[in-house]
Amino acid sequence: MAIRPIISLPDPRLRLKSEPIAVVDDAVRALMDDMLETMYDAPGIGLAAVQIGVPKRVIVIDPAKKDEEPRALFLVNPQIVWSSEARSSYEEGCLSIPDYYEEVERPSKVRARFLDRMGKLQEIEAEGVLATALQHEIDHLNGVLFIDYLSKLKRDRVVKKFTKAAKREAEERAAEARV
Ligand code: NI
Repeated sequence: MAIRPIISLPDPRLRLKSEPIAVVDDAVRALMDDMLETMYDAPGIGLAAVQIGVPKRVIVIDPAKKDEEPRALFLVNPQIVWSSEARSSYEEGCLSIPDYYEEVERPSKVRARFLDRMGKLQEIEAEGVLATALQHEIDHLNGVLFIDYLSKLKRDRVVKKFTKAAKREAEERAAEARV
């Protein structure tokens, strides 16, 4: 297992539509293990492969709280097959948009279908933080970020902030290279 670098806003790869996985083999399991280690290290409760620059339809989630036993979920080609009419609002963040949190309203309950670590078809019904995480991570596979649900004003502001920070970082790196 290895910790991989997480890409962040405004990296255009975050807008890619990820490709489905044809076969859940050892390479996919190794990718998921790296993703889980990267997610725990960050730390976060969910990570999509595209966030480490691999545009494939794979996500890992662990909704366990700090004092609870870890319960990692590995989901390949996940799909929401049902969502409740009822909606609820949670404060969301994203490992690709560090230190930024906003309330997002989504369906309260969802059912998702996916292939597990062994390539077996599974379905789960989720509510609460797991429902939010599933929807947030599956959005990543379609190039959608949680800031897309905010007002244009808020979204523009956060994109601008991260674009400026990335530019400043690139300039600093270039300056160091010249020394
Ligand atoms: Ni995210």
